Amino acid sequence: MTKPLLVAENISKYYDGRVACEKVNFELWPGEVLAIVGESGSGKTTLLKCLSMQIAPNAGRVLYSLRDGRTESLSDLSEAERRFLMRTDWGFVHQDPREGLRMGVSAGANVGERLMAVGERHYGRIRSTALDWLNRVEIAGDRIDESPRNYSGGMRQRLQIARNLVTAPRLVFMDEPTGGLDVSVQARLLDLLRGLVRTLGLSVVIVTHDLAVARLLSTRILVMQQGKVIETGLTDQVLEDPQAPYTQLLVSSVLQV
Ligand SMILES: Nc1ncnc2c1ncn2[C@@H]1O[C@H](COP(=O)(O)OP(=O)(O)OP(=O)(O)O)[C@@H](O)[C@H]1O
Ligand SMILES: [Mg+2]
Repeated sequence: MTKPLLVAENISKYYDGRVACEKVNFELWPGEVLAIVGESGSGKTTLLKCLSMQIAPNAGRVLYSLRDGRTESLSDLSEAERRFLMRTDWGFVHQDPREGLRMGVSAGANVGERLMAVGERHYGRIRSTALDWLNRVEIAGDRIDESPRNYSGGMRQRLQIARNLVTAPRLVFMDEPTGGLDVSVQARLLDLLRGLVRTLGLSVVIVTHDLAVARLLSTRILVMQQGKVIETGLTDQVLEDPQAPYTQLLVSSVLQV
């Protein structure tokens, strides 16, 4: 592919005149993992939600390269095209897995539902694909009929990832997918994500406040402070030789630990 998958142009969002994010620009190329980092309240989640049509920006636009090769502004898409993106082409991994799962139905149904949304009707195939995905995210197959209410936080997060990836999306948005997990679970989840990104050729926009997560997963990084992008570049370069004073502070505070 010779053009970006997604282009953010001057994305701005204000709440009661207060800046949540402002004039954000970047390109995301196919197969690329972009990390958005920055302190709490710097506008990361707002930006991610603007990019994925969960909230409408006050200014700017998001261009997206559709499967048929057309590039369209998200705000110009028909309702059917939007639905297709939300259900099929995109995944969204919420920081809180309860927001991204249906807690009232079984784990298997959580995965199967996404398949049915793309037209799969064969019960046996749905179940075997769901099982296969539980296996991939290291959830024992005999837990398939349980509600995610019974699952631990880390298991729910992995189930949420399975639910999102089962339809082979082209683009996945992730908001702190490893936040709130203990270190060993986090490490395994990161490993898993890294493997899936590689094998599926996924493009990912991942929000994290953890530079170690950004370093492990991302090719490019975007550093936000008070709603603005203050530094961007290849992850390795930015972390090795940060230019903005705030990024320098971020990097040095991590290195001290
Ligand atoms: N629905 C809302 N109504 C009013 N203000 C909001 C709303 N959502 C976000 N904000 C404000 O926008 C700013 C950016 O918030 P955002 O949630 O995007 O930050 P964040 O970088 O994701 O922070 P964290 O790391 O804590 O999740 C904050 O000042 C926040 O209070
Ligand atoms: Mg947030």
